[in-house]
Amino acid sequence: MTDQVILFDTTLRDGEQALAASLSVNEKLQIARALERMGIDIIEAGFPVSSPGDFESVRQIAATIKDSRICALSRAVQADIDAAAEAMKVADQFRIHTFISTSDIHVQSKLKRNFSQVEEMATDAIRYARRFTDDVEFSCEDAGRTPIDNLCRMVESAIKAGAGTVNIPDTVGYTTPTEFGGIVRTLFERVPNIDQAVISVHCHDDLGLSVANSIAAVEAGARQVEGTINGIGERAGNAALEEVIMILKTRMARFGLEVGANPAEIHRVSQTISRLCNMPIQSNKAIVGANAFSHSSGIHQDGVLKSQNTYEIMTPESIGLGRNNLNLTSRSGRHVIKHRMAEMGYSDSEFDLETLYQRFLALADKKGQVFDYDLEALLFFENQRE
Ligand code: KIV
Ligand code: ZN
Repeated sequence: MTDQVILFDTTLRDGEQALAASLSVNEKLQIARALERMGIDIIEAGFPVSSPGDFESVRQIAATIKDSRICALSRAVQADIDAAAEAMKVADQFRIHTFISTSDIHVQSKLKRNFSQVEEMATDAIRYARRFTDDVEFSCEDAGRTPIDNLCRMVESAIKAGAGTVNIPDTVGYTTPTEFGGIVRTLFERVPNIDQAVISVHCHDDLGLSVANSIAAVEAGARQVEGTINGIGERAGNAALEEVIMILKTRMARFGLEVGANPAEIHRVSQTISRLCNMPIQSNKAIVGANAFSHSSGIHQDGVLKSQNTYEIMTPESIGLGRNNLNLTSRSGRHVIKHRMAEMGYSDSEFDLETLYQRFLALADKKGQVFDYDLEALLFFENQRE
């Protein structure tokens, strides 16, 4: 039996709101197309009430994208919901995502209300949004810091009011995986109508735990994960969807968990988003960093040349990257030099491996990384001397 985990991408909403310069409508369309091609289930295209530009990009994305469902954000107020519905009405089907805070600190200090008032605003908003679509998602903002009795009460009321998806955000990236998984598990134990909705999670990365928390939630029963490509987003960002996808594919398929997205699109989509958003990817970033499939030490390079899975738990091809990379440094051994020379088209008889290797080591000690053209030069000068 398989169990589908729905992927909800909010690069264009939570991701975009953290950029120094906003994206143009065309850039957003390009990203939406790349996400659609990758097979993302739900694309949160923006927050239409926030600006005319955001409204227009959501409208154009809703008119263009066919294979992913488009979603737009709204606070739990009618004007926001009207704007979201108006922007997406060109699409056959769309999702309205409405939210309100549920933690004591947000309810008291930000909203200046009591919990019952907030509950009423949430349920009114969900019922209102249902006039426009039967696909309504409700988020309990700052759920990670919400007292569990209140969270159970809000989730139950949201489902009764008509939310088909209830999202549990760890808005400030506060929880740990055991805690966050425990919150979701408690919801499944205590909310009587929970089987009438999909439970979603939306984790931020303030403590670097957003992906771990999302996976803990999936283990506890959540079946939608929200995140962004490259993990871009407010402050330290959101859960990186490419990491979530590869964890589900490489480690969780054995429990019957599946995702619809095509991982072979990951590299391309990640590069496109990094470029358009002007957000460089740190080189040691999991899955999409420049070093994620690079091997530097001689022992690792030798292992990978003998059998790729000695030091690779997934292949570069699986994320759409042509091949792995063996960095030539003073930690590299003879095996990788011989291999690289063969890749460059040299037969064994054209060079003396030991001599070349010693020269390579001397150069690598001075220069750090040695490139193919350096090997060519070492060989050329070696031949000149003869
Ligand atoms: O982090 C958060 O709580 C949000 C909500 C609007 C879902 O982005
Ligand atoms: Zn968020």
